[in-house]
Amino acid sequence: MSGTSSAREHWATRIGLILAMAGNAIGLGNFIRFPAKAAAYGGGAYLIPYFLALILLGIPIMFVEWTLGRYGGLFGHGHLTPMLYIVSKKKLTPKNAALFAIVGGAVAFVTGAMITGYYTNIIGWMSYYAVSSLSGAFQGLEAAKDAEGFLANFLTNPVYNVTAWLVSLLIITIIVSRGIRRGVEIAAKIMMPILFIEGIILVLVSLTIGSPVKPEWSSIQGFEWLWTPRLTKLGDPAAFIEGAGQIFFTLSIGIAGIIPNYASYLRREDDIPLSALTTTSLNEFAEVVMGASIAIPLAYAFGGPELLADVEAGEVSGFGLSVSALPPLFGRLGGIGNIAGFLWFSLLWFAGVTSAIALVNVITSIFEEDFNIVRSKGAWISFIIVFFAGVFVNLEGAFKTEQLTDYLDLADFYAGSLLLMVVALIEVIAVLWLWGVDESYEELHRGAYMTVPKGYWKYVAGGIAPLYLIILLVWFVVTGTQTAAARPDNVFGWIAVGMLILMFILGLIINWNALKRRYGEEFT
Ligand code: ALA
Repeated sequence: MSGTSSAREHWATRIGLILAMAGNAIGLGNFIRFPAKAAAYGGGAYLIPYFLALILLGIPIMFVEWTLGRYGGLFGHGHLTPMLYIVSKKKLTPKNAALFAIVGGAVAFVTGAMITGYYTNIIGWMSYYAVSSLSGAFQGLEAAKDAEGFLANFLTNPVYNVTAWLVSLLIITIIVSRGIRRGVEIAAKIMMPILFIEGIILVLVSLTIGSPVKPEWSSIQGFEWLWTPRLTKLGDPAAFIEGAGQIFFTLSIGIAGIIPNYASYLRREDDIPLSALTTTSLNEFAEVVMGASIAIPLAYAFGGPELLADVEAGEVSGFGLSVSALPPLFGRLGGIGNIAGFLWFSLLWFAGVTSAIALVNVITSIFEEDFNIVRSKGAWISFIIVFFAGVFVNLEGAFKTEQLTDYLDLADFYAGSLLLMVVALIEVIAVLWLWGVDESYEELHRGAYMTVPKGYWKYVAGGIAPLYLIILLVWFVVTGTQTAAARPDNVFGWIAVGMLILMFILGLIINWNALKRRYGEEFT
């Protein structure tokens, strides 16, 4: 097979692959974003749009990404542009295929750089909170507004904020620089079991903690409140948009091609369907079982129905809940609370780090594979790109703007919610429509341990998923862009807009050169 790379790394073990893929998907979204979305969009009823999106979008696009990734890996490709090119030139002319692939790759590049920029900042905050909890710093926090002050003090202190961010980003970069087997896989094998153990302990703490603040506010009631179906909420189309958005974010689909990147380190005959379903199931366990059983029950035990009414109204975000409601609760519980707080914030750190490793790895693979830059250097080039995409999150705190997170909110809205759907749509078109249903179906099943029904591939992955995506995108553009999150409130918001555009241009330049080096003679 021409262009096949024999030097390419592969996962050393199946368990390593599964843990790394699960680590890629399980992130802050599972523990912070999901419970707040479920609370806001109907509790138990939210599971209807959520699981509908899982079956009609999540699982088929997961299969699409694994298939595209493993196939691209056979040709030595770890990022989307060359992967999209080799499959779309089966139907398009090389010139059109190159155009499609470069633009698609550039959109993926924006999502990767911008999400990694703010995501690693939040990971840094979690490390600060974990250490603070252990040192008993939460014991002086009486109410949510004290905790908000604690956060504001931290964000506006450049020494703590920059240090927390850069230490986490350095750790992530060092892991990526060591390669797949010696870095990514080992990190997953260590961090994922810790994450699951911490999660299980926290679920037990959360459900047995009783009523530490007021007798009528027990955590179990909070759990019951969360899962009580509020069906009227389903009348709001936003429940369906948010259900789908959560599926995208939590499974990491459409995020910069990080699933195809990890799949590119599979061997040609490695199973896809069962492995993809296993990692999806692990993610869903971490989200629906663990994620839902920690933050909301604890928040109820601290702030009762009024606090959860604010979450339901969208006035308190999942992030706000984690940093403003939970620290004072941990503070009240004394020594046990210090440890529980440490477990919670370190769990979030591990969850975030294992996802961010995948994000930095995909950027690194561009330099390693298409510019012949050794991985150890490529990882540091990625570090610099992420630094520029993320440093304004820090600077906004240092400049003490009123909002403190306008840059982050804008980046999250466009890169973390909107553009990832565009990336997913491009991948589906490339695999199902341009590569073709039959060929891609055959590729999905090479070495497979189970069979995916052909109708599911043809009609759901190839028809319903792209249609669903187009409807979501139109809806999102029409309604979402009218919301406060989509509009800059201060100069940092405008810098975020500028950075999104800059990263898109950088993505075009890098991907154009990457593709030209590999396939230039075909399309220039
Ligand atoms: N999938 C990752 C998360 O849930 C990005 O946070």
